[in-house]
Amino acid sequence: MKLYLMYGGRTVEHDVTVMSTRSALSAVDYQKYEVIPIYITRQGLFLKGLTLTAPVAAETALKLDAAEQAAWRPEPEHSLGTKFDFAELAGQKDCVVFPMIHGTWGEDGTIQGLLEVLDVPYVGSGICASAVGMDKIMAKIVFDEYQIPQVPYLSVLAVHYRDANKAAEIREQIATEMGFPVYVKAANAGSSIGVSKAESSEELVGCLADAFTYDDRVVVEKAVPKARELAVSLLGNDDPKASIAGEIGKKQDFYDYESKFIDGSTKLIIPAPITAEQLAEVQKYAVMAFNAVGAAGLTRADFFLDQAGQVWLNEIQTMPGFTQFSMYPFLWQASGVPYPELIDQLIQLGLERYASKKQTVANK
Ligand SMILES: Nc1ncnc2c1ncn2[C@@H]1O[C@H](COP(=O)(O)OP(=O)(O)O)[C@@H](O)[C@H]1O
Ligand SMILES: [Mg+2]
Repeated sequence: MKLYLMYGGRTVEHDVTVMSTRSALSAVDYQKYEVIPIYITRQGLFLKGLTLTAPVAAETALKLDAAEQAAWRPEPEHSLGTKFDFAELAGQKDCVVFPMIHGTWGEDGTIQGLLEVLDVPYVGSGICASAVGMDKIMAKIVFDEYQIPQVPYLSVLAVHYRDANKAAEIREQIATEMGFPVYVKAANAGSSIGVSKAESSEELVGCLADAFTYDDRVVVEKAVPKARELAVSLLGNDDPKASIAGEIGKKQDFYDYESKFIDGSTKLIIPAPITAEQLAEVQKYAVMAFNAVGAAGLTRADFFLDQAGQVWLNEIQTMPGFTQFSMYPFLWQASGVPYPELIDQLIQLGLERYASKKQTVANK
């Protein structure tokens, strides 16, 4: 079977997707799969790499690096890969795509839509679950519908906020309904980009202005003071299994882009030192969140644990970080599913989902 591993892309999480892919390439079962890397440059050009039939981790890593470097060059074409023609995938039966792309144009339903049109099996959630999971306003509305605990929030739309009088009213409403501090987040950004913390009405003005530079839909939510951050990994299609919980140990109280990916200052604590009741709760809410959006394959659910011991769902990631050192695979490893087996299970789940969709009347 051919495994098309798609990675990179125009997402701000480009580098993380490259790291995730590097890990995956060294762990794929090459007895079962022939791997075709599809690298998407930062400009959005799709390049097809050489077909891999054995784990050539170091060499591959070099090629990935080179491809990445080349992507910065202004000329659209270069010698490191051939331009990928999507027609190659259309109607192919003996293949599966793993879109290992986090964030925009990967985790938000867009690449999933392309793969649906091409009628190929792929790993992970479909269009709707991906799009809802990525959109901080839509996700909150759906989670509310299923009574999953979330911190109080308000959505703010640019169309209203553009009006100076209404803007003042909105800020007033935030101050009276939530108080300070609040977190201000662009609905669609990810990786702590477009997220800021406002300690006062004055700061709120700047935070909202900043968030609106990323998206015309913004969510403002009550800050959980001294929040501990927990995560649970989910694996499955209709009836996902929940892993044990992990905790993100932090030096500072804001888990931002720098500390997440660059300086390595965040530490993963597995298992999270929480009570059996708290574990049962996060696992239950994680499964509820997965089902609420109709996710498939994999998802990571992120929670806050407040000082009173109450858990709150923060968000879900339908294509979570997937390096060998990322929370999602680490939690499975600690729950008895090693990394190579995890990849295999995810591929099988993608194939199963494709087959079962084919059974529905609409897809026959
Ligand atoms: N309501 C909140 N209370 C406390 N901390 C928060 C809150 N919202 C966000 N944070 C902090 O900001 C980080 C990024 O916010 P998050 O909503 O997870 O956005 P992203 O999609 O960028 O990961 C969180 O991991 C947490 O450290
Ligand atoms: Mg987050």
